[in-house]
Amino acid sequence: MMNNKNNEYFAEDTHKYMYCNDGVFSEFIFSLITRTVPDDFSKYSTAIELGAGMGRFSFALIKHFPKVYLIEPSESYITVLKQLFDTSHVTIVKSTMEEFLKNNPIPKDSIFFSFHLLHHLTREQRKECFTALRTANVPALFLEPNPLNPLIILQLMLYPDMRMKNEFQYIRLTRGRLAKEFNECGLELTDYGRLCVLPPPITKLALKQSFLMKPLLLLDTLKQVLPFFSSYHLFYCKSKPGA
Ligand SMILES: C[S@@+](CC[C@H](N)C(=O)[O-])C[C@H]1O[C@@H](n2cnc3c(N)ncnc32)[C@H](O)[C@@H]1O
Repeated sequence: MMNNKNNEYFAEDTHKYMYCNDGVFSEFIFSLITRTVPDDFSKYSTAIELGAGMGRFSFALIKHFPKVYLIEPSESYITVLKQLFDTSHVTIVKSTMEEFLKNNPIPKDSIFFSFHLLHHLTREQRKECFTALRTANVPALFLEPNPLNPLIILQLMLYPDMRMKNEFQYIRLTRGRLAKEFNECGLELTDYGRLCVLPPPITKLALKQSFLMKPLLLLDTLKQVLPFFSSYHLFYCKSKPGA
């Protein structure tokens, strides 16, 4: 999506379902991520989040990594990020991921994250991103809407800001298709998983009671038997040796 079109779709006061003013949901998702990916994230000193939006998932990165870059092209979302995260170890960059990856050397001890970004990119943009990550030779974690979950269609119908033409690609980004795209760019899918069995608005509501955090984490084991219930699917990639 060209940047002006992106600014128009992700404009001020739109997609408020993505807005969180605390890190509880983000921390819950990060816990599920660490249960899915066997890597030790504490060895990475810099987390770079591509397409940070209004910071829905950034809270946990900011808590768990000594240095964090939030990359986001939408002007209005940049304003929200600056209001939420005014702290010295966070750098907020108004940029597309293409510009950022082209113009900045990536520290060796970095790890990339992106949440709900890939289905907003064209295949060419994804190729550019994956190739740059291959060159940087650092791991990358992508979280996308689970195409098997029928409730996402309901969400598309209920939220007037969401347009099918901007969102439909999530259905095409299956495990097999993305694994192929990674592979073509010299990345290897080392871990894959589904997570968050309750719809995010219900999860957020439940998490208002802090004692429900542990039961909700336990409930997530249901994803093994009910894969279509999970709201997200996760891809963890590394550069292919010798690619
Ligand atoms: C669906 S939102 C997800 C935001 C956030 N990660 C979340 O899950 O709440 C997609 C975000 O990607 C950003 N985006 C779109 N194209 C981008 C690009 N080429 N590079 C970086 N970010 C981009 C949009 O501005 C938007 O904030």
